[in-house]
Formats: sequence, structure tokens, C-alpha cells
Amino acid sequence: MPDPAAVNTMFARIARRYDAANRLLSGGVDQWWRRRLVRHVRAGSPRAVLDLATGSGDVAFALARALPGDTRVTGMDFCQPMLDQAVAKQASASPDSPAARISFLQGDGLALPCGDAEFDAVTVSFGLRNMADRHRALSEMRRVLRPGGRVHVLEFSQPYGWFRPLYYFYTKRILPAIAGKVTGDRAAYDYLNASIEAYPGHAAMSEELRRAGFREVRAIRMTLGIVALHIGVA
Ligand SMILES: C[S@@+](CC[C@H](N)C(=O)[O-])C[C@H]1O[C@@H](n2cnc3c(N)ncnc32)[C@H](O)[C@@H]1O
Repeated sequence: MPDPAAVNTMFARIARRYDAANRLLSGGVDQWWRRRLVRHVRAGSPRAVLDLATGSGDVAFALARALPGDTRVTGMDFCQPMLDQAVAKQASASPDSPAARISFLQGDGLALPCGDAEFDAVTVSFGLRNMADRHRALSEMRRVLRPGGRVHVLEFSQPYGWFRPLYYFYTKRILPAIAGKVTGDRAAYDYLNASIEAYPGHAAMSEELRRAGFREVRAIRMTLGIVALHIGVA
């Protein structure tokens, strides 16, 4: 399991180049994955949404744009330099844009500084993989959801069997080399590769959600299974 202090320091190091590296390494597909996540959230018509591990805030901004103007959107992360990126983007948006109504707050996914049943939806996009205790993180997400509220976990997954050799060649050999050049921090992307390979496939991940108390769990696999969106009801 990842060491929280090391994860925090690593994201602090790459924060300024995080968005650029994402676009380059995924060929822009990461934006499409987040858009699909947001469409599923919107379908539940939530009034209050927590975007956990919000990082530079892309999902929080997309949620604010997609949801009605009176929806409360909170972006939370434990790494201040990542939140600083989100706040800088918010500051450069117009004061009457949807971005302006997001609250960006520092908080740890393993001990959320939020009350019970405070949210109708929780999203976590490429964040759960980095948390030291997934069961605890998922249990915290369930605690802050009202009964009937939904969690949406967008995360790397295990791709279709035939595609794995090619995919792992990319994540092991090509990705860290390119990312090392873009961010100047190859070690961070060696970690990314290791964390992707160690992460459960969609069936095991669905089971983890059920163990944390979520019901009606479903997994939507995307892009040959590289990524999966898991949805569960609290
Ligand atoms: C790969 S980034 C994802 C950012 C954003 N959600 C996105 O889709 O681009 C992972 C984020 O998880 C955050 N993170 C990792 N562990 C965390 C924890 N225990 N509590 C809160 N945030 C955490 C990191 O600081 C980082 O910003």
C-alpha cells in the first residue's frame, strides 16, 4: 500500500506539470474518461457533491459546469500544492462562471473533515489508487454520503487479457520515459506504473465497494479495460 507522506510529497513535486503530463500521456483520452464520470453523476441530480482527491480540480470544474447553479461542489485533496493549481485555475476564471462556486479544501480521504450524510454524490478520479487504506477510504466516502447517495470511482483497472502485454509495455517502458522528460521526475511515473499494475481488476474492485457497504455496485469498463468507472449506492 502507498505511503501517504511519500504520495503527498510526490504530488507536490509534479503538481505544476500534472495537467500537461496527463494530456500527453493519455493522448487526451483522460478528459473523455472524466466527462463520462460527470455524465453519470449528473444523472443522479445531486444537490451536494464531494470531489475527493480533486488534485488540480478538473473533475470539480466539469461538475460545476454540468450541474445546476445551486449545486454545492466541494473539491478536496490532502496535497496543498495540487490544490494550489486548482485554486489558480479558479482565480483565472470569470467570477460569475460555474468554477467560482467550488470550495477547494484540504482534507485526507482516510479521515474526511466532513459530517455524516453531508453529500448526495462523491467522486474520486485517479485518487483511490494512491490511498494507503482503500477500505477505510471507501468507508469514509460511504459515511459522508446520505443513504441512497452514490459514489463514483474512476480509476485505472486491469485491461482485457489480450491487450495486457502491449499496455504494460507502454506503462513500464514508454510512459515513465516520456513523463520523466515532461515533469523532470521519472521516479513519480515509475510509481504510477507500479501502482497501476498492483491495482485490482473490475471484479475485485466491485467486491471492495460491497465490503465497504455499497450496494447496486456496477463497473463500466472503458478503453479496452484500462480504466473503469465503479458506481455504488450508499
Ligand atoms: C492522480 S491525482 C488525481 C487528481 C484528479 N482527481 C484528476 O482526476 O486528475 C491523485 C490525487 O490524489 C490525492 N490524494 C492521494 N491520497 C490522498 C488522500 N489520502 N486524501 C486526499 N487526497 C489524496 C493526491 O494528492 C493527488 O492530488
